This record gives sequence, C-alpha cells and structure tokens, in this order.
Amino acid sequence: MDGKTTVISKEQLSKQMDFCQKIQALWRSEGVAPTAYVETYGCQQNEADSEKLRGMLAECGYAIVGSAEGADVVIMNTCAIREHAEQRVFGNLGALSHTKRRHPRQKIFLCGCMAGEEAVALRIKNSYPHVDGVFSTHHLWRFPELLHQVLTTGKRTYFTQDEAGSIAEGIPQMRDSQLKAWVSIMYGCNNFCTYCIVPYVRGRERSRRPEDILAECREVIAGGAREITLLGQNVNSFGKDLDIEIDFSDLLQQIAAIPGDFLIRFMTSHPRDAGKKLFDTMATEPKIAKQLHLPFQSGSSRVLKAMNRHYDREKYLSLVEYAKSVMPDLVLTSDVIVGFPGETEEEFEETLSLIEKVRYDSLFTFIFSPRIGTPAAKMEDPTPREEKNRRFDKLCALQNTISEEIHRAYVGKTFRCLVDGRDKDMLTARTEGGRLVRFTGDDALIGSFTELTVTDSGTWSLTGIQKKGG
Ligand code: SAH
Ligand code: SF4
Ligand code: F3S
Repeated sequence: MDGKTTVISKEQLSKQMDFCQKIQALWRSEGVAPTAYVETYGCQQNEADSEKLRGMLAECGYAIVGSAEGADVVIMNTCAIREHAEQRVFGNLGALSHTKRRHPRQKIFLCGCMAGEEAVALRIKNSYPHVDGVFSTHHLWRFPELLHQVLTTGKRTYFTQDEAGSIAEGIPQMRDSQLKAWVSIMYGCNNFCTYCIVPYVRGRERSRRPEDILAECREVIAGGAREITLLGQNVNSFGKDLDIEIDFSDLLQQIAAIPGDFLIRFMTSHPRDAGKKLFDTMATEPKIAKQLHLPFQSGSSRVLKAMNRHYDREKYLSLVEYAKSVMPDLVLTSDVIVGFPGETEEEFEETLSLIEKVRYDSLFTFIFSPRIGTPAAKMEDPTPREEKNRRFDKLCALQNTISEEIHRAYVGKTFRCLVDGRDKDMLTARTEGGRLVRFTGDDALIGSFTELTVTDSGTWSLTGIQKKGG
C-alpha cells in the first residue's frame, strides 16, 4: 500500500453498473425474482457500507429480505475489532451451510473488516467451502463484478489483495432510514493505536471531497432526513490529505449552512486532534448536537503512551474541561479498554478516577482483545483473565451508578427530541444529547421534533410525556 488515495473513475463505476444490468438479465432469462440478505456486524461504518451493498444488490434486481433462509445471495459484512466479534461471525457463517443445503443456489459472501485479514481468507478457503466469495472493504465498489463472476463461473472468488486506499463516489445506496442518515466523510485510519486492527483492514486515512459530502447532505435533507451523522475513524483529521485548506470544523459549518431543520452528529473524535476550534464551533452552531463521543481508552498516561494514543491524562481532562465550559449541557460518551497488556491495579484505578472526574452519560466498555499483527498482541500480558473480568465488572458498576445519577437529574426537565420510531406500545425519541426517551403518543409524530418532559429515568433510557403544545 503506498498511501496514495485513488479516486475510482466514473468509467470504472459505470462498468460495475453494466455488471448489474447483466445480472438482472441473467435472472430475467430464468423468470426468477431474486432475493438477497445482508447481515451487518460492527460499527456505523459497516452499517453505511451495508447500505451501499443493498443499493448495488437492488441495482442487480434483488429484493432485500430479512433473513438468510431461502435468499439467493447472503452477505456477511463483518467486524474484526475483537476476537469475540470474529468468533460470532465464524459461528453464524458455519450455520449458513444449512441454509445453503436447503437452497443450493444460494451464494454466500464474506466482506467487511475480517475480509482484510489474510488469515481469515485462508480459513474460509480451507474450512468454509460453502462460501462463494470474499472481498475486502477496498473492493466494495466492485461487488457487482464479483457477483457476476461467481454467478457465471460458479467458482469461488476472492477480491482481497491489498490495494492503495480508494474512494468511490456514486455507488447506489439503499438507506435504512429516511429520517437519520449516515454520511461517511472519510475512510481508513492512520493512527495505529497499538491494540487496533482497523488501520490494517481499512487502510490509510482518506477524506472525501467536501463538495461530494455537501451534495450528499443536501440530498438526504431534501429526502426528509432530520439527523445526519458524519462518520470517520478520526473525524478531527478530516481534510489533512486534501489539496485544499479545510478542516473538520469548517466542514461542520458548511453543512450547518444548508437550509432545513436538522441536527448534525459525528463520530469518532480522537482526543489527539480535537481542540478549541471544534468545541467553539459546536457551541455556537445550533444545528450541531451538543453531544461528544470522545474515547479515552485509559486514565493512565503510561498506558496511553503504550497504546500510542498521542495524548495523556492531563491533556484529555483539559479538553473535556474546555468542552464543558463552552457547552454546559454537553452529553459526553466514551470508549474504554480494561486490561491492556501490563495495566497495573494502580493504572486501572486511574481509569476509574478519570471516569469519576468526567462523569460520562454512558460508556462503551471493552476487555483488551489481542489482534494478530498489532503491536499490543506481542506485549507481555501477565494479568490473568479473572482479574481483568473483576476490573471490568468494577468499572461497569461505577459507570452504571453515574449513568443512573445523571439520568435521574434529567427528571422534570424538558428537551427537544426527534421522534424516531415505535417500540411496542411506546414511541421512541432522542434528545439532542442522544439520550433515548420513551413516551406514549401518536405514530404521526414519528419524523418530527417534539418537546418532551422527562418523568422517569433508568440506567439506559428515560421516560417522558409530551409537553403541552410541544
Ligand atoms: N476510531 C475510534 C474507535 C474505533 S474502534 C477511536 O479511535 O476512538 C471502537 C473501540 O473499540 C475503540 O475505541 C476501543 O475502545 C475498542 N477496541 C479497539 N480495538 C480493541 C481491542 N483490540 N481490544 C479491545 N477493545 C478494542
Ligand atoms: Fe483504531 Fe486508533 Fe484508528 Fe481508532 S484511532 S480506528 S482505535 S487505530
Ligand atoms: Fe469493526 Fe471494522 Fe468498525 S473492525 S468496529 S467494523 S471499522
């Protein structure tokens, strides 16, 4: 990989659309209306990629269905972040041999981050003969070609060779929600945190051109979106690889200037590149949600250094302090890893004390999982698993108490919320800070902003009632 960003040309993409037409013609000649199922694991980047896979499948004439049973195409869009995530995929992939036995024409594909690991492609080759194709995230845009090859030759096909990072604009997309849109602003990651596999499987950081991002935002807003979430592994370094002077805060401002009533969210912010300009922009721009997901990973400066995070405890805390000073209602969430190789009891205690200091609304908590090929997987790790589990439980208990306390303080307050759906007999809505509020109301409210007064709280969600006239 040479680190250069290749933009996939219009001609290359139009060739892929030709493959879609050919696949449609194949099915038409048989008089069959084909179906496809896409299963998504992992983060929002994969959700966004799955929307593109469904878009391409629709272009090929496939109707999207909700289960693998009987589907003509099954795609597993996988996550490699932790061993457990991979084990789940291998388990579910194994079970697909049964759906294929019942429907022998079924074509099964594995893609996403696991497909970027050499060892995975090899394991599929040797032990999962019912899988017809594997393609890495770099080859997503070539899926129609891969599918056509598999359908016409019947041979197992791999598009996994390491390529220079590319950007493909104009892939058809079938969005899960008209109301809330994912918009990728960049792909890949340059940070090489020592525990993380993402830079290896998703390649180097590359930003989309602002005009393409703005055009997509305008399109989804015109289509009824009330919330746009900008996606990237490290959104704060947006634009650094482009030949124009633009940073993430500038981009936020340009998106906010698009007319319409909508909220902008983004993830993920890396503390290394986040700073005053971003927080000031958030504070002054009403369309940007006052919500920040700012992973800290550890409260110990020694561990942060070993993780290659490029900030220490003090810098992190001063960032949070500044962000809270300009946005007093800021809702903060974060990611934390327990049991990084060599983490001592004292260092773990530093993580707890950071959590107590910052008081997050909620946390995503992980136990360190060694990923082959990353530096941390080779580090000495003398702490037994039971001890890591104990630390993990202690941390979760602390966070649950804090979440409950913060949520209790919401009771009696009124928030402008976006009503986004129904869960059994209650409607669901999100505050600007991203907190879930359930309330009783009419389905006609779905898709609009409404004022809700919080009446009750729990660890994970809030209950509310509509404010009169809200
Ligand atoms: N780019 C984002 C995170 C993407 S991965 C960032 O830097 O903040 C999401 C989270 O998974 C990470 O923040 C980290 O907490 C966790 N994670 C990543 N690799 C891991 C590993 N090997 N073991 C345990 N947790 C891991
Ligand atoms: Fe992984 Fe670090 Fe990149 Fe996040 S910033 S994706 S944790 S390497
Ligand atoms: Fe998983 Fe890939 Fe996202 S490893 S967390 S799906 S970037």
